[in-house]
Amino acid sequence: LPVQKPEEVIKKYMEEVGTIPDELKKTELHCVILGLHDMHGASVMSPSGYDSPEGGSQTLQPSTVGKFTKCGHTLHMLCMLAMYNNGNKDGSLQCPSCKTIYGEKTGTQPKGKMEIYSIPQSLPGHPDCGTIQIVYNIPPGIQGTEHPNPGQPYTCRGFPRFCFLPDNDKGRKVLELLKVAWTRRLIFTVGTSNTTGEPDTVVWNEIHHKTEMLSNVSGHGYPDPNYLDNVLAELAAQGVTEDCLRRD
Ligand code: APR
Ligand code: ZN
Repeated sequence: LPVQKPEEVIKKYMEEVGTIPDELKKTELHCVILGLHDMHGASVMSPSGYDSPEGGSQTLQPSTVGKFTKCGHTLHMLCMLAMYNNGNKDGSLQCPSCKTIYGEKTGTQPKGKMEIYSIPQSLPGHPDCGTIQIVYNIPPGIQGTEHPNPGQPYTCRGFPRFCFLPDNDKGRKVLELLKVAWTRRLIFTVGTSNTTGEPDTVVWNEIHHKTEMLSNVSGHGYPDPNYLDNVLAELAAQGVTEDCLRRD
């Protein structure tokens, strides 16, 4: 990845709002990150971290308000900078108000393997085609700076994890998008498992997978007529859309 200065990333996707329009002054204009802090008051406090060389800024004042180029939402540019520095600093921003992604969002999925197989059996609800099987395998390792407890080990439960898609046009499209999501480290993350409560373990991120092939007892199986549309929406929410397939 080309190394971009955090401040430059902010300025790439947000423009400084010189003066706040009068109509907005009358309304309560709040920064979503500072919450109750008044954005146009003089008493704006900087959240901690701005004094440090890493989180600091030479050219942005604590009161500087920025506007996202596409969605138009506004917040303190220093708040966005603090949020960016808190994340994996991949050159992308996500509007905290509407989740619009600027640039290419990547995640914190640890190293591992994604393999694809074909199964000549159909899935409940998809009688006219065979099945794509995805096998994810991630071995245990040590957490990086992008993880909750850098330097500590992470565990990997239930790997290899087997997932299923119908082998039709839409299923194959989902597969291609999942490959993009895998490359961008978006399928798994390191955290606390909702299912087991175990911390420092590899868990599914925000993209649902079907891990049960022939029934849907768990809710993570077939039949599920909405699954492909739902997972396409979840992929899109991570910035993974058909556009990525044309470009990549
Ligand atoms: N299959 C697929 N997705 C699941 C499953 C499952 N069996 N159980 C939970 N999820 C989804 C949840 O709906 C949630 O959105 O994964 C997301 C994260 O849930 P966690 O419990 O935090 O994730 P994790 O610990 O990784 O997985 C739980 O999934 O594949 C299985 O073997 C795995 O038993 C484990 C389970
Ligand atoms: Zn927005």
